Amino acid sequence: MDYQIALLGGDGIGPEVIAQAARVLERVGTAFGHSFVFKPALIGGYAIDATGSALPDETLAACRSADAVLLGAVGGPKWDNPTATVRPEQGLLGIRKGLGLYANLRPVKMNEMLIGASTIKPEVLRGTDLVVVRELTGGIYFGERGRRDDGNTAYDTMIYSRAEIERVLHTAFRLARQRRGKVTSVDKANVLESSRLWRETATIVAKAYPDVAFEHLLVDACAMHLIRRPATFDVIVTENMFGDILTDEASMLAGSMGMLPSASLAEGTLGLYEPIHGSAPDIAGQGIANPVGAILSAALLLRLSLGLEQEALAVERAVDQVLAEGYRTRDIAENASEVITTTVMGDLICERVTA
Ligand code: IPM
Ligand code: MG
Repeated sequence: MDYQIALLGGDGIGPEVIAQAARVLERVGTAFGHSFVFKPALIGGYAIDATGSALPDETLAACRSADAVLLGAVGGPKWDNPTATVRPEQGLLGIRKGLGLYANLRPVKMNEMLIGASTIKPEVLRGTDLVVVRELTGGIYFGERGRRDDGNTAYDTMIYSRAEIERVLHTAFRLARQRRGKVTSVDKANVLESSRLWRETATIVAKAYPDVAFEHLLVDACAMHLIRRPATFDVIVTENMFGDILTDEASMLAGSMGMLPSASLAEGTLGLYEPIHGSAPDIAGQGIANPVGAILSAALLLRLSLGLEQEALAVERAVDQVLAEGYRTRDIAENASEVITTTVMGDLICERVTA
């Protein structure tokens, strides 16, 4: 088969790690007899410099006509001026909204080989294997915001409709059925009205999945339990901003943010896949970034948008093998002498992808 992949490297280390993910897809193509056609497009700070917009129309069009989108990261100090009217992050929020990517899946699986790289005790980490399903196109990120009183008062609105809550809850329950059969819905229903609607809706949706264990948890308690008993979670589903915060916290359970992939899904098969790390401007251009998060995102792309499960597993096995052989990029290395570069990590993973 011929697959069209929109390639949005973005800023900082984004293009470096996406280049490795694209090479791995090419290798999958050779090994399994598929052909991937890559369509590069601009997003974020580079797009602002080139066109004045963080998400040019051509980029959105290229994504809409592709089978899937692979994205690096956006942002950097160059565009970080608080008074700026165009920001790289608008590109990311725009593409999420523009493609209707309401369900963001962020799996966090502790890798036994990297247990020493985390700041959390091994006995707490052991067995951690969870997925956060973050609502991605609603809530306070997209509610009305503004200033009044001559700019001296500012407000943002957390707003959700029942339909928006229902569809992401269904994603979480369907996913739990393919996993260990447990959903934790996270909200702040003791304070927020939008959370009370979230909880009410979640309770109703849960009735359609009697085979799945279900619980509610307040977001502050969830933040604590994530580092107290992470292995007890299976699927956590929550609104946009809570999910943003909890997934940065949860990423530390895997040792390094550089390891973690994510998938953002819409109603159909089109999806956007990106590592959860940022553009890391401090290490950009040095060739030392960890490409594993981007490469595992490509594996999710194979599985979830293209339905190529065997190919996805081949990539995940190749990553595990390289780590088991002791190869480490700087972020996950326990001593500096064993460190390899971004490209070498890409080479080693490509070599181990077999049908
Ligand atoms: C993320 C990021 C983004 C978000 C930023 C860059 C807008 O933190 O994907 O988690 O807040 O959603
Ligand atoms: Mg974030």
